[in-house]
Amino acid sequence: MDPIRNPYAPGAGQRPPELAGRDEQLRAFDVVLERVSKNRPERSLVLTGLRGVGKTVLLNALRSAAVRKGWGTGKLEARPDQGLRRPLSSALHQAVRELGHPQRDEVDQVLGVIKAFAQRDAGPNAKLKDQWSPGIDVPAARGRADSGDIEIDLVELFTDLGGLAADKGLGIAVFVDEMQDLGIDDVSALCAACHEISQSGLPVIVVGAGLPHLPAVLSASKSYSERLFRYQRIDRLARDAADLALTAPAAGEEAAFEADALAAMYAATGGYPYFIQAYGKAVWDLAPRSPITVDDVSVAAPEAEAELAVGFFGSRYERATPGEREYLRAMASVASSLDEPLDDADSVPTADVAGVLEKKPQSLSPARDSLLKKGLIYSGERGRIAFTVPHFGRYLREQG
Ligand SMILES: Nc1ncnc2c1ncn2[C@@H]1O[C@H](COP(=O)(O)OP(=O)(O)O)[C@@H](O)[C@H]1O
Ligand SMILES: [Mg+2]
Repeated sequence: MDPIRNPYAPGAGQRPPELAGRDEQLRAFDVVLERVSKNRPERSLVLTGLRGVGKTVLLNALRSAAVRKGWGTGKLEARPDQGLRRPLSSALHQAVRELGHPQRDEVDQVLGVIKAFAQRDAGPNAKLKDQWSPGIDVPAARGRADSGDIEIDLVELFTDLGGLAADKGLGIAVFVDEMQDLGIDDVSALCAACHEISQSGLPVIVVGAGLPHLPAVLSASKSYSERLFRYQRIDRLARDAADLALTAPAAGEEAAFEADALAAMYAATGGYPYFIQAYGKAVWDLAPRSPITVDDVSVAAPEAEAELAVGFFGSRYERATPGEREYLRAMASVASSLDEPLDDADSVPTADVAGVLEKKPQSLSPARDSLLKKGLIYSGERGRIAFTVPHFGRYLREQG
């Protein structure tokens, strides 16, 4: 069919033509927005899940919902080994602009505090040229959010921002993607600041997204984090939502799927959103005409898998060193020997991986730690690990 009209959108963070199966999260977030702007206590959302399930695009959709309500919003993507100050100040700068508070002097006051917060990054004795500026053209404030203690500084910063938003009866929402990659001090300060700010009823919220072990990261840093956030597990789509993700965009282009084609698509994709988009894209291009048939799906499958092998699996696999790859393969072979090797989403004991490699578990910790840091595997419970990428075990086994 006409590739120019192909509606599907495989790719990290690519907005899907139809955001299927996420109504519950969108509704829950609307309640959060309404309650917070009315100074009512409310837990913010944190989205967790494997790679490719649609956390980033859902986070973006939540952000749009906040923007539609007139909130000020900003977003950042955490990176390992990067401090919070700079990306957070850029995000907050954006949020203040979006909020559009009418009083210039009050806005400038808060912008000055954001700048002070950002510039504290360089250390107290930094030369002017080392001082990074978030593009804010008012002078940095002094004595506010610039103590150097990130926790104190964040509380002061959020308090001032909250005041600005409260004037308008609205709020400020900061979206943090890949939240598990924040440094320990930053996570802990962020939780503390959210805690503090929610107790004073100020309308500032942090909405996070990250890998499945994110709740463990947060609660290890602050035990009360479970009361700050409502964790929403973002998972593969159920059959009806997966069908909708394919049929709604097709209908928009006056095309359709036969019923057994949809069944074959679900069998192949397991309902994982990234796979749905990749298969949708491939089958559209290869099918001679609408409606798309089950034979079209079989013809397109190798194409879709080849795309995924490069764009989804390969790009991750390439980040691993030879030793780490050996470790990943050993994980895959343990996973395939389990009772239900179907999904590779389940965790395996690290001891079994060591067993397959015939090595002492301790000697493998460098490889394991590095894979954790690279975000290829995660550990939800002590002594067990799992792939962050769905179907990764199968990919590794097929690669031979
Ligand atoms: N609810 C959904 N319905 C249909 N497609 C989706 C949905 N969520 C995500 N996708 C698609 O899945 C892919 C991965 O989404 P992304 O947000 O990058 O996942 P994650 O951040 O969890 O790794 C993208 O191609 C996106 O268009
Ligand atoms: Mg993402």
